[in-house]
Amino acid sequence: MADQPKTPSQPSSFIYGATRDWPGYFDAVAGKPPRETLLEALNRFNDESPADAIDLGCGEGRDTQELLDRGWNVLAIDGSQTGIDKLRQRPGLADHPRLTTRVSSFEELTDLPKVRLLNASFCIPFCIPEHFDRFWNTITDAIEPGGRFSGQLFGDRDSWAAIPDRSHHTRPEAEALFTGFDLEMFDEEERDKQDFQGLAKRWHVFHIVARKRA
Ligand SMILES: C[S@@+](CC[C@H](N)C(=O)[O-])C[C@H]1O[C@@H](n2cnc3c(N)ncnc32)[C@H](O)[C@@H]1O
Repeated sequence: MADQPKTPSQPSSFIYGATRDWPGYFDAVAGKPPRETLLEALNRFNDESPADAIDLGCGEGRDTQELLDRGWNVLAIDGSQTGIDKLRQRPGLADHPRLTTRVSSFEELTDLPKVRLLNASFCIPFCIPEHFDRFWNTITDAIEPGGRFSGQLFGDRDSWAAIPDRSHHTRPEAEALFTGFDLEMFDEEERDKQDFQGLAKRWHVFHIVARKRA
């Protein structure tokens, strides 16, 4: 996932994730394209008709927009009212007939409809660890047999693994979460990043597309 060029007035978006400053994050990523994991999952549906999808942790809507543009019905969920407001402010999304939005924390989320695709880009690790197992069961239960998951988990060597309220996983732990799925993409990324302000972060991320066994 290529980074956009930065200007001195535009810090790297990762600083906002460190402090959970989501409004700052939404401004920093405005205009960015959909995530590669979502595009990979969509390509793998081949000529199957668009159906129902959840975009979990949708933020300001970069992935929701793509899903709608491709004809999917989307339930977009985020804990940030600001994120949902920004998503609805995108052209044509204020009252889009195939878009439903919901403000909910991951920790409170227990009822999800069954869907063909559950997309969760760069958001699952922000679930508080005590709630993670139930949250993960809610996610996997929502995916129909033959349906797909797309998104990221963060690894144990990521800088943010030291923050107590984050849910990070070793590679074997991450793989074990997909029992009952076929892994179609499981790309492990590990790299150090430093921006022009000297802020540094080690990224250790698993980019995942998985198909639930029928
Ligand atoms: C790094 S952003 C990713 C947003 C978008 N999916 C993307 O790929 O750009 C993480 C998103 O998760 C949401 N989020 C973080 N923690 C959350 C929680 N505990 N419950 C609900 N949403 C949460 C934030 O509001 C934010 O929109």
